[in-house]
Amino acid sequence: MEKKDLLYEGKAKILYLTEDQDMLVQVFKDDLTAFNGTKKGRFQGKGGICNALSTFFFEYLENYHVPTHFQKSLSENEMLVRRLEMIPVEVVVRNIATATLAKTYNLEEGKVLPYPIIEFFLKDDRLGDPMINEHHAYALGHATPEEMRMITRVASKVNAILKAFLDRRGLLLVDFKLEFGKSGKDILIGDEITPDTCRIWDKKTNKKMDKDRFRYDMGGVDKVYKELLDRVLNQ
Ligand SMILES: Nc1ncnc2c1ncn2[C@@H]1O[C@H](COP(=O)(O)OP(=O)(O)OP(=O)(O)O)[C@@H](O)[C@H]1O
Ligand SMILES: [Mg+2]
Repeated sequence: MEKKDLLYEGKAKILYLTEDQDMLVQVFKDDLTAFNGTKKGRFQGKGGICNALSTFFFEYLENYHVPTHFQKSLSENEMLVRRLEMIPVEVVVRNIATATLAKTYNLEEGKVLPYPIIEFFLKDDRLGDPMINEHHAYALGHATPEEMRMITRVASKVNAILKAFLDRRGLLLVDFKLEFGKSGKDILIGDEITPDTCRIWDKKTNKKMDKDRFRYDMGGVDKVYKELLDRVLNQ
């Protein structure tokens, strides 16, 4: 499917219209950003790795009947996705306490939570993505109670599936962020599932295998993204 007009250029991806009004081409860029876009970087091949990992995870989830926007892979850094009306709520699932959660609740960094925590954030860069709950989502007109229930159920299911999968690869799924959108009456997972949007640690060493290496200047972000892709694809 050929790319037509540009629909949206974000920090890590570009979306193009296609001849089919229900389909978009999602292009993964080599750029890395953090702290609401204030910190910028890039490495060659990053878009390809994130496209390959997202493709793998979306296909893996579809096998478990988790609905996603993924249609097919188009090239090294492009996938065809279903066009969604995005719900501006970022859904975060946490299995291990880190970062803001550890600080806010005075939990030891790296503590395994006895029960996963699901959090919602309003996706609005100008407001700094404030944390919200279901009631804000209803009152701000972003989703109905039924939609939020569905989103919560799907996020929990994705957590169970990906956590078990990564565990078999010797990896810990620390936390991750999902975005959902509507296609008619259906609610699908959109956007991406990559080390930009997940925290993943090596099970034995707790080595960080995600964007935190870039956020906190730990070095080797390109190496761990490549290693993660290899381990996920079991090469
Ligand atoms: N299937 C889809 N249909 C329509 N929009 C989508 C779909 N999947 C993802 N999007 C949206 O496309 C954009 C992807 O851009 P990108 O992730 O690069 O930037 P961003 O979300 O604006 O910034 P950042 O991710 O750095 O906060 C996001 O706004 C995302 O919500
Ligand atoms: Mg984004």
